[in-house]
Amino acid sequence: MTRTPVTVTVTGAAGQIGYALLFRIASGQLLGADVPVRLRLLEIPQAVKAAEGTAMELDDCAFPLVSGIDILDDAVKAFEGANVALLVGARPRTKGMERGDLLEANGGIFKPQGEAINAGAADDIKVLVVGNPANTNALIAQSHAPDVPASRFTAMTRLDHNRALAQLSKKAGVSVADIRRMTIWGNHSATQYPDIFHAEIAGKNAAETVNDQGWLENDFIPTVAKRGAAIIEARGASSAASAASAAIDHVHTWVNGTADGDWTSMAVVSDGSYGVPEGLISSFPVTTANGEWEIVQGLEIDAFSRARIDASVGELSEERDAVRKLGLI
Ligand code: NAD
Ligand code: LMR
Repeated sequence: MTRTPVTVTVTGAAGQIGYALLFRIASGQLLGADVPVRLRLLEIPQAVKAAEGTAMELDDCAFPLVSGIDILDDAVKAFEGANVALLVGARPRTKGMERGDLLEANGGIFKPQGEAINAGAADDIKVLVVGNPANTNALIAQSHAPDVPASRFTAMTRLDHNRALAQLSKKAGVSVADIRRMTIWGNHSATQYPDIFHAEIAGKNAAETVNDQGWLENDFIPTVAKRGAAIIEARGASSAASAASAAIDHVHTWVNGTADGDWTSMAVVSDGSYGVPEGLISSFPVTTANGEWEIVQGLEIDAFSRARIDASVGELSEERDAVRKLGLI
């Protein structure tokens, strides 16, 4: 029996993450090797021609799973019937731009996109916001989609999670496959808190196995938290292939579930767990099953972790206050 194609809308399709992401979606890595996809690419009018070029290359790959590609510059049409929405396109910070300017410029993008998702997306819509500031952009979109369950709006901290796995695996001399239960808490920003106190290496507590507080405080946490800036410094452009790979991982895990005994990191709407104010879109340890996520409950948070979670969540609260003042939520 032929399966009905899943409609996947990607914004910022002509950008560098879009270029690394679309071919992997089209080859079946987002949803599965047996799931046909219809791609909807949303761009601003000036970038439609470049998106058409990417679509020509997608055609030239002759991916059997691709049942159609539409290129659009209208959000309402782009999200019509969407089952999965990857919101990658955002306004980057440019010289002289203050934080408030950045939030305002992105509000102009994520408010209408939230409204368009509310108006026309499929009932099972799942939204991943990648465009920065990702958590707060997700909050803006979610607050303009009152008819969509808030749980369907998520923001990406899977790249931070994967970065943390890579750093820990190097330190411990193990494969990333030996590590479970890594957690990123808070904002996708330099205040994020990568937590190894609940992580396990080959079934044993990771912090105890590594047993190196100096490395944890002075190397691991800052390396993971500032990795985005280090990539920009080294490459002259922000991370693209690794960000696309994390977006694939995020949606794949959301749809297909976490492995038994493991969890992942996703920025999701807080229900007040771990003292994170209700409604903020903050990163938590989550398990997924049947296309739904759940925050892992009952973890003990010591004073060291508490201070770091509070700092990052405090920044998210400030961002929420700022977009509230601007009338964006
Ligand atoms: P890019 O500048 O190469 O591409 C962005 C694309 O978005 C451009 O083609 C632009 O035309 C398009 N765009 C702008 N406004 C749009 C709108 N209203 N609708 C549709 N498309 C629109 O940037 P990139 O390197 O692909 O990065 C995209 C975003 O992802 C940035 O905000 C970046 O900071 C962020 N990012 C997030 C993470 C994360 O872990 N959450 C990691 C890396 C990058
Ligand atoms: C990253 O973590 O690589 C990006 O969010 C960095 C950026 O500012 O785009």
